Amino acid sequence: MSRLGSKVVAITGASSGIGAATALELATHGAAVVLGARRTDRLDSLVARIRAEGGRAEMLEVDVTKRADLEQLVALAVNRFGRLDVLVSNAGVARIASMADLDVDDWDVMIDVNLRGVLHGIAAALPVFRNQGHGHLVTTVSTSGLKIVPTQAVYAATKNAVRTLLEALRQESTDGVLRTTAISPGYVRTELVDYIDDPEQREQAQHAMAALGISPDAVARAIAFAIEQPDDVEIGEMTIRPARQG
Ligand SMILES: NC(=O)c1ccc[n+]([C@@H]2O[C@H](COP(=O)([O-])OP(=O)(O)OC[C@H]3O[C@@H](n4cnc5c(N)ncnc54)[C@H](OP(=O)(O)O)[C@@H]3O)[C@@H](O)[C@H]2O)c1
Repeated sequence: MSRLGSKVVAITGASSGIGAATALELATHGAAVVLGARRTDRLDSLVARIRAEGGRAEMLEVDVTKRADLEQLVALAVNRFGRLDVLVSNAGVARIASMADLDVDDWDVMIDVNLRGVLHGIAAALPVFRNQGHGHLVTTVSTSGLKIVPTQAVYAATKNAVRTLLEALRQESTDGVLRTTAISPGYVRTELVDYIDDPEQREQAQHAMAALGISPDAVARAIAFAIEQPDDVEIGEMTIRPARQG
């Protein structure tokens, strides 16, 4: 069994896309997975599938904008499996529009989910990691933060804020207790852009995703690679994008 087989991993945004693919990838390699998202029907199906294939999985309704929900997700991992080795802070939303449109409500949603949601995960997991003497924080940021383009300003800003958090956390944690990994996917075929309000922007994004997007399994394999490294090896950043993405 690979090193993954001994891991207990909590994943936010596990109800679809990259989070669901990561849950399946890790569970297939023997990890115990604890899945959080708001759509519990999706989580139920995923847990049933993992268990039917002989894997170990639990689920909880989690809204990452609520600090208590993250505390409960971490507690579920510890109570059910004895510890938490890895938190994959993956839940995220993308609302694409020019800043001049002043979609302030959408800005707030992205800040609350993509940034505050990750902070809530850190706040919940860090004491457990410190207490155990080990822990790994993985998060899905984005190539949107690496190549800045119009209409993705706030989305990219939230992702780069998280990149900054992880780098600072890494520098504060050089005693070997904590590993941090920021994964930057490019276009990945998921539901992410289906929730963009503006029909024109939504259609454009869906078109780009259909034309270019890679499978979420590719990102899941990268996350698994980062997790399965020996405890003294930290994969700090990884970019996984379509070979044809500009
Ligand atoms: N797809 C891409 O091209 C791409 C590229 C770069 C980065 N990313 C990042 O990858 C991550 C996963 O996205 P995806 O592409 O897999 O899209 P997705 O299929 O839409 O998945 C997003 C996940 O986030 C969850 N979520 C959203 N708001 C939440 C909240 N308030 N509380 C808890 N969970 C919440 C959703 O679950 P519920 O709705 O059930 O709560 C869903 O499971 C995101 O952080 C995204 O920014 C994606």
